[in-house]
Amino acid sequence: MSYDHRKYKPFPPVSLPDRTWPEKTITKAPRWCSVDLRDGNQALPVPMSVEEKLELFDLLLKIGFKEIEIGFPSASQTEYDYLRTLIDRNLIPDDVTIQLLTQSREHLIRRSFEAIRGCKNVVMHFYNSTSTVQRNVVFKKDREEIIKIAVEGAKLIKEIAAEYPDTNLSYEYSPESFTGTELDFAVEICEAVMDVLEPTPEKKLILNLPATVEMHTPNIHADQIEWFSKNIKNRDCVDISLHTHNDRGTGVAAAELALMAGADRVEGTLFGNGERTGNTDLITMAMNLYSQGVDPCLDFSDIEHISNVYKRCTRMNVHERHPYVGELVYTAFSGSHQDAIKKGLDHYKTAGSSFWDVPYLPLDPSDLGREYEAIIRINSQSGKGGVAYILDSQFGYKLPKAMHPEFSRKIQKITDETGKELKGKEIFEQFSKEYLEVKEPWALVNYEINARLDVNDAGEEVQSVGISCSLKYKGEVLKLEGTGNGPIDAFFHALQSTSAPKLHFISYDEHALSEGADSQAVCYIQVADSKGRSNFGVGVDNSINAASLKALLCALDRIEAGLAD
Ligand code: KIV
Ligand code: ZN
Repeated sequence: MSYDHRKYKPFPPVSLPDRTWPEKTITKAPRWCSVDLRDGNQALPVPMSVEEKLELFDLLLKIGFKEIEIGFPSASQTEYDYLRTLIDRNLIPDDVTIQLLTQSREHLIRRSFEAIRGCKNVVMHFYNSTSTVQRNVVFKKDREEIIKIAVEGAKLIKEIAAEYPDTNLSYEYSPESFTGTELDFAVEICEAVMDVLEPTPEKKLILNLPATVEMHTPNIHADQIEWFSKNIKNRDCVDISLHTHNDRGTGVAAAELALMAGADRVEGTLFGNGERTGNTDLITMAMNLYSQGVDPCLDFSDIEHISNVYKRCTRMNVHERHPYVGELVYTAFSGSHQDAIKKGLDHYKTAGSSFWDVPYLPLDPSDLGREYEAIIRINSQSGKGGVAYILDSQFGYKLPKAMHPEFSRKIQKITDETGKELKGKEIFEQFSKEYLEVKEPWALVNYEINARLDVNDAGEEVQSVGISCSLKYKGEVLKLEGTGNGPIDAFFHALQSTSAPKLHFISYDEHALSEGADSQAVCYIQVADSKGRSNFGVGVDNSINAASLKALLCALDRIEAGLAD
């Protein structure tokens, strides 16, 4: 049996009884560094071409990244050429720092320096692996020997840097596989590097502590970072950088808790692209901050464009449920969710609150360029409220509450039969077919209304309305007359003289469909047939009287055409 959990051992907790991070909150954005073009790229089945890297670089600039790790130029000619293209074509803005990665090995460091000639701001990022398993099994070296690799790399970097007086050079050291490294050893090797590079509060060294493999729960990562932060010497001379991977699916959570634990900087990628399960997803992390009222200092407002460029350049997909971005993340399939969202959105609009507080929507989709239209789509699980919400929010039809069950039954029948969900446009098409396009067998040709005011024997004013109209019934034009206490009542009476089924009036609702003098009116009339079955008709016209006559004929037509339930 290979499936045997006893083959694994639990990660030991960090002894940190005075930990402070659980009481902290994140109140400002960290320094961000995108590693899309290096860690992300190196994990792609088909790595990006120079042109694709240039397009992604441009996107990263537009998002607002000021530190971008562009690759591993000493390890790949494409990455070397790409960096040279950026420098030679003057594509790096003055306020942007280019970071490049190199192993702590002489020939790779030398080649990396060759690649940066002419570049204004550079972070030379060097690393060697420090974890127990890498030391014992892969390199078969003891602690001293591993420290020597880091220190010699640091010395060489410092020496060659002197040849680059015009480059604003800073340094980053990563004890790779930090999460599997004894904390005291991580501090020891980082301090040995500090002794060589002599960082100051003005010229800090970045100590990047990678969760190269995510090995434990996020709280342990936070403990590791707090422990390191408290024990490293000259803390004011270093910036602690995070670089979490996502093996346990908690890369973002680990980075968030580690920020609370005192880290200053976060490395990650768009959509968490990267080795195996990927890196910290910077979109999720930034939008998590944003949705807590913290300015992430990264602009994801055109997420559709960002997502399209990312997909094109990396040939990766974005999952439908990807936080903040996925195609389905602003949809609600359950009726109760839809109802709550509708109430929340209405309340947000009418209450004039400046704080977003809408059930089931942690963030306003329009902030990311997504549309309310996409919020609710209707499937067989949807409730009446969802259908009504779509017609109201997208098409301006405010169906009376009593009409919701009638129309949503029609929609539910379709979604049940097809097993598909309906989008707003399809729901409206169905509404049109059911109500607005129904003109058979009865249709209004013309009408005239005369109102009369009489005074009865008791001296009271009594209004009466007379109607004369022409209706088409199965192609034949009928001329009718009727009187009543209002136009609809008069019309009801006029219909009595025809073969139309006898109907009882139940309710009447109307509203303007749009604003302005030329706006159309929509009327909803509910009637009951002789068996007491309720049925709605809808009429739209510039004149409110014509709209109500049309609504009544619509109800009649639906009954005669068998469209009513
Ligand atoms: O995950 C990792 O450890 C890395 C280092 C090279 C920083 O990508
Ligand atoms: Zn990595």
